[in-house]
Amino acid sequence: MKDAAPQTIYLKDYTPFGFTVEKVELTFRLAPTATRVTSRIRFAPNPAATDRTFFLHGEELKLIRAAIDGAEVTPDVTPQGLTCPVPDAPFDWEAEVEIAPEDNTALEGLYMSRGMYCTQCEAEGFRKITYYPDRPDVMAVFSVRIESDLPVLLSNGNPGDTGAGWAEWHDPWPKPAYLFALVAGDLRAHSDRFTTRSGRAVDLNLWVRPGDEGKCAWGMEALKKSMRWDEDVYGREYDLDVFNIVAVDDFNMGAMENKGLNIFNSSAVLASPETSTDANFERIEAIIAHEYFHNWTGNRITCRDWFQLCLKEGLTVFRDSQFTSDLRSAPVKRIGDVIDLRARQFPEDQGPLSHPVRPESFQEINNFYTATVYEKGAEVIGMLKRLVGDDAYARALDLYFERHDGQACTIEDWLRVFEDTTGRDLAQFKRWYSQAGTPRLSVEESYADATYTLTFRQHTPPTPGQDEKLPQVLPIAVGLLNPNGDEVVPTTLLEMTEAEQSFSFPNLPARPVASILRGFSAPVVLERDASREENLFLLAHDTDPFNRWEASRALAVASLMNMLSDPARGPDGAWLDALLDVIRDSALDPAYRALLLGLPSESELAQRLYEAGTTPDPEAIHAAAEKHRQARAELWQAQLPALAEEARVDAPFSPDAAQAGKRALGGAVLAMQSRVDGGKAASAQFDAADNMTAQLSALTSLITAGAADDALAAFEAQWRHDRLVMDKWFGVQIAFAPPHDAVDVTRRLTEHPDFDWKNPNRFRACLGALAMNHAGFHRADGAAYDLLADWLIRLDAKNPQTTARMCTAFQSWKRYDAARQEKMRAALGRLRDQPGLSRDTSEMVARLLG
Ligand code: PHE
Ligand code: ZN
Repeated sequence: MKDAAPQTIYLKDYTPFGFTVEKVELTFRLAPTATRVTSRIRFAPNPAATDRTFFLHGEELKLIRAAIDGAEVTPDVTPQGLTCPVPDAPFDWEAEVEIAPEDNTALEGLYMSRGMYCTQCEAEGFRKITYYPDRPDVMAVFSVRIESDLPVLLSNGNPGDTGAGWAEWHDPWPKPAYLFALVAGDLRAHSDRFTTRSGRAVDLNLWVRPGDEGKCAWGMEALKKSMRWDEDVYGREYDLDVFNIVAVDDFNMGAMENKGLNIFNSSAVLASPETSTDANFERIEAIIAHEYFHNWTGNRITCRDWFQLCLKEGLTVFRDSQFTSDLRSAPVKRIGDVIDLRARQFPEDQGPLSHPVRPESFQEINNFYTATVYEKGAEVIGMLKRLVGDDAYARALDLYFERHDGQACTIEDWLRVFEDTTGRDLAQFKRWYSQAGTPRLSVEESYADATYTLTFRQHTPPTPGQDEKLPQVLPIAVGLLNPNGDEVVPTTLLEMTEAEQSFSFPNLPARPVASILRGFSAPVVLERDASREENLFLLAHDTDPFNRWEASRALAVASLMNMLSDPARGPDGAWLDALLDVIRDSALDPAYRALLLGLPSESELAQRLYEAGTTPDPEAIHAAAEKHRQARAELWQAQLPALAEEARVDAPFSPDAAQAGKRALGGAVLAMQSRVDGGKAASAQFDAADNMTAQLSALTSLITAGAADDALAAFEAQWRHDRLVMDKWFGVQIAFAPPHDAVDVTRRLTEHPDFDWKNPNRFRACLGALAMNHAGFHRADGAAYDLLADWLIRLDAKNPQTTARMCTAFQSWKRYDAARQEKMRAALGRLRDQPGLSRDTSEMVARLLG
């Protein structure tokens, strides 16, 4: 329902709830359209609160009865919750409500996914299950009884008694309601065991639908690796007798860290070599780790309110990226994270949706599970660690866990443990949490009297609601190279705090070449007029693998920009020669070489043009990128077979980093080969493929070569029974379609009998892929905007959360020409004017239109 006037909630208005909850007992009698939930909750007046209004959240609930200390009461019920007079002393609240999980298409609260019951409560879904103070600072011990004929009945914590048609669970750790979970279904377990370092034996289960048992081994291994890693690196042990993970086909997000009962989108946990790519394996390993790590950073220590979301998300993303770096290659992980940050967080922070890592207001909290809160939130922690050093970081984290275990905390609490361990004043650093926008960092160099000086200037452009920005603390990692390529000054951390600041390096007999912002030490846009020669030098010599890659990226951007301003031009030959030397260096990790073969995305080029004051033309950008790829493939044609040979994997399939790196290099080489052999090599690889990485890279190469018809039909015939693989089949056809075809391909595929638009994975596979096809989405006649808007209107009535997230496809509308802007605004306007539009989507559209 559309609220008459959407309410804005402010961080500054926080007040504690008037009551504490001592315990919660829930009973579920499951039925698809009439589930009964009874609750018995022990409340007591909260001495820390002044306002004693007894308000319980509750939405879309049918209240059957309510009682206080055994006496029936008749509360005042509104669409948002209920109020009721209560005693001025501890009391027992009882209520019975009825809900209809089968009708719940929003996938929030208790819902059904292909015959199985499951819940999603973060952020505010518990209020769709029963009346409760649904806020993260109310923490309580939960006991749950589930009644159902389904064979597997799960909830949080440790298992209790069971009988025919019922099971009981008890979670001894106090938790907020958003971490509640329940699952019931006909499920099979893939089981294992883990012994914590203090000797606690933990039963591990990964629960899946019958038929998916063969896709569990990888997730289970990832879980055990995560449990060991968190003990080794953060000293954090698991704290229950069981850890359950459930795979669910219909899920709005990746996964959810419910205490002792993580619920996963099946795409984020199920894997097998035949059905999953190396990228899938790596992502699954990272998400399993992420959700597991939340047990300490999120669950044992939670958030006081939803403005503090980055407290758990930024930290947990940071921890999972450390885990992946330790298990795989740190530079490859770092480069991948920066590519992702630039593709998702930078456009968000530089457009109408920009908000601080800790927002100060919201209408719908679901709209703030963003790249800024997650990924920029993690970058901020990386900077903090760089500034205080590894040892101080470790001591601060120990103090954080010791001081705040069992509490609902704020960013102030988080920063204070760093101040207390280091004696540093973090007041200025805290601006990273309150100022939105991507800082731009420009640099000038001078050399005189054997002293080399770098002068930096920082400036953050205005963002919605924040016109003036103050200087932020920027950790700038710098190394200096001699003209002969030796490193004369190893990586040094410069700490910039002023708007303009100089740093000098004395005693340098020759003017050095600077490698600036090594490892991407701060999430800024570095504006540096490095010459082509300097970038070529850094590509050849930089000892920092990130900046070596970055130098090539700068050359790629420059080359493409030149091709755009003069369509008669070809790619920069000197750069391609230098790049080829690096690519052929067998001493380098194949995964790293594969990254060097990547080009900046068309969307990133559009953003760079826009920043340089030129209106981007999506078709021209696409044409330049294609011309570049074609020219490169032709130029390197003779070297491709040797590279392909180097990338060959002879051993049986393993998703480890070494093999995956080879396949990544092989995939990049195959894409080049297909441009010169009409798809012959790709066809052969497709026919011989015994793993999804090889099969899918062959398929995408064939699509770009325009020779994929047979392969697409064969792929569909082979995989039509497998939903996750079919998501790939839908997605690649749209993402890799030639721009002028993308809309038609999407239209045709949305008419396919397997296009189940209510399934978020399938919806995203199609409409999300359309938005990713930059030139296809920005077709001049606006047909893609209209098609997406039509589908968003349709989905909003069923699933506001996924709809609102997908509105971000329009977030960069200001980059483009007036005609396209007009068409995007019209599409958004059509959404805005839709009667009954959800609060989620209304807020997004309003922010987008500004
Ligand atoms: N808290 C989840 C995570 O990051 C994400 C999530 C948010 C899932 C909201 C579902 C709903 O791990
Ligand atoms: Zn998370």
